[in-house]
Amino acid sequence: MTDSFSLKGKTILITGASSGIGRACALECSKAGAFILAFGRDEDRLAESISSLEGEGKAFSVELTNTDEVDEVMKELENNGVKIDGVIHSAGISTTLPLRMITPDKIQPLFDVNVSSAIYLSKWVTRKKMVPENGSSIVFLSSVMGSVGEAGKTIYSITKGAVLAASRSMAVELASKSIRVNCISPGVVESPMSENAVYSRNESARKKIADLHPLGLGKPEDVANAAIYLLSDASGWVTGTNLFVDGGYTAR
Ligand SMILES: NC(=O)c1ccc[n+]([C@@H]2O[C@H](COP(=O)([O-])OP(=O)(O)OC[C@H]3O[C@@H](n4cnc5c(N)ncnc54)[C@H](OP(=O)(O)O)[C@@H]3O)[C@@H](O)[C@H]2O)c1
Repeated sequence: MTDSFSLKGKTILITGASSGIGRACALECSKAGAFILAFGRDEDRLAESISSLEGEGKAFSVELTNTDEVDEVMKELENNGVKIDGVIHSAGISTTLPLRMITPDKIQPLFDVNVSSAIYLSKWVTRKKMVPENGSSIVFLSSVMGSVGEAGKTIYSITKGAVLAASRSMAVELASKSIRVNCISPGVVESPMSENAVYSRNESARKKIADLHPLGLGKPEDVANAAIYLLSDASGWVTGTNLFVDGGYTAR
């Protein structure tokens, strides 16, 4: 790895670090030299993530939809003089629900985790005291569902499209502070989220989904490697963009 792709000396905050893509991001960013602030809820799985790191890191059990909990942890970090070089917001939830079954109460929980928590956390990490002199980089996990559609994905798509839209305005607003904001839009990645999805219930449904990806289903590490690029100095002139990491799903 050349120096510009290295995360050596950087502190990276990763939400969803207790599972799937977020955990892979923690492990791969650690291999790339970063100190990891691992956010999640399940303490045992968070501890597993921390113990698998190549370098150093610290776990924080936080319910991201509870702003008091977020405030408490972020205040502690700020008071300890922690500067945040990068963020990967991987925490998220999904649902597959036909339009006829959608009610307002089904929308809010997804919006709270996938969108509102991303914005609230971004407010914290872009505070003057938390941004290193050279600026920082924020990466949101959107999804191909933020740009294209599938039956039953209306609510999930709303939230992932919202994150894409937010990242562009944030990128413009924060550029003068050398803070970059980008999204990654994965196709289907093998993780607990996709394993629990309806398309994983039987082999033929799973094959149908896999066949939509010319390169097959993704691995969490495929997304983590893209995140490393967006966090590193190698992407210093990249902001407000959306990187599809989807095995060719959207190329079809
Ligand atoms: N897997 C895919 O195929 C795929 C495709 C496109 C986009 N994505 C996006 O990629 C991201 C990661 O997905 P994944 O596959 O890694 O999912 P996952 O394995 O289900 O992990 C989700 C993570 O989010 C955390 N989380 C959920 N709700 C939370 C809350 N209210 N407060 C704090 N943390 C919360 C979970 O923490 P605990 O487990 O500790 O509760 C877990 O660490 C998501 O944003 C997802 O939408 C995934």
